Amino acid sequence: MHNSSYWINYFSQNLTKKRIDWSIHPMLTTEEKREILKSLQAWQLGETSDGANLISAATKHAKQLNDPDYIAAIRLFIQEEQKHGENLGKYLDVIGEERIKKNWGDSLFRKFRGLNRQMEFWTIAVITVESAAQLFYQCLKEATNCSLLKQICTDILIDEAAHITFQTERLSLIYRHKNPVWRFVAYHAYTCFYFSTTMVVWLAHRRLFKAGNLQFSGYLYKMNLKFRKTIKKLKPDQVKDVILSKSVQV
Ligand SMILES: [Fe+2]
Ligand SMILES: [Fe+2]
Repeated sequence: MHNSSYWINYFSQNLTKKRIDWSIHPMLTTEEKREILKSLQAWQLGETSDGANLISAATKHAKQLNDPDYIAAIRLFIQEEQKHGENLGKYLDVIGEERIKKNWGDSLFRKFRGLNRQMEFWTIAVITVESAAQLFYQCLKEATNCSLLKQICTDILIDEAAHITFQTERLSLIYRHKNPVWRFVAYHAYTCFYFSTTMVVWLAHRRLFKAGNLQFSGYLYKMNLKFRKTIKKLKPDQVKDVILSKSVQV
């Protein structure tokens, strides 16, 4: 696991990298726009947040661990998310489409996040949404021939891979601090959240996924693979731990 100063260094470096050539003229066809616009607008809104709730959860968490650098790492992480929102917004501006202010999926997710101020909840939410985001941006790239939009997606995809590592390491740390019974409960709660969110994302964005040549079975297969690389990695010792704790109690 990397420490917080590693992540501060990584994010600071990554934020200096300019991978998008904004002098490229956007070339989105009418047919492409019809398939992707609604999802693009919704995702742009989703990537736009001031991160205040996340910072307050991270501050509490960092105090418990006596790791003040973690707050700085989270601030840089939020900055990177805001960069995604801004780049997608800039693209909507250049193609003459609006940046929307409201969307049902986004409102639902924000309400859900607002209910919980725990770092654990944020971590699982980010892992889940960003796993789906990876498929979303890959499909968006597939669904268009516009070089500018492809570059924006590539830039986000590079960032998101590291975000998942950053959050998976955090989830693993939080999980290891639990007693075996709570680990068992938490693991099943994570799984339930992951796959129900997976279904909601498909329902909301299936048109774009299909435009990017991803059908439901393929989407589910890929989300399951991502689950194995993130949340499922926590699992191996849980059954053994529960049995051991029960025998200790006896
Ligand atoms: Fe993002
Ligand atoms: Fe991200």
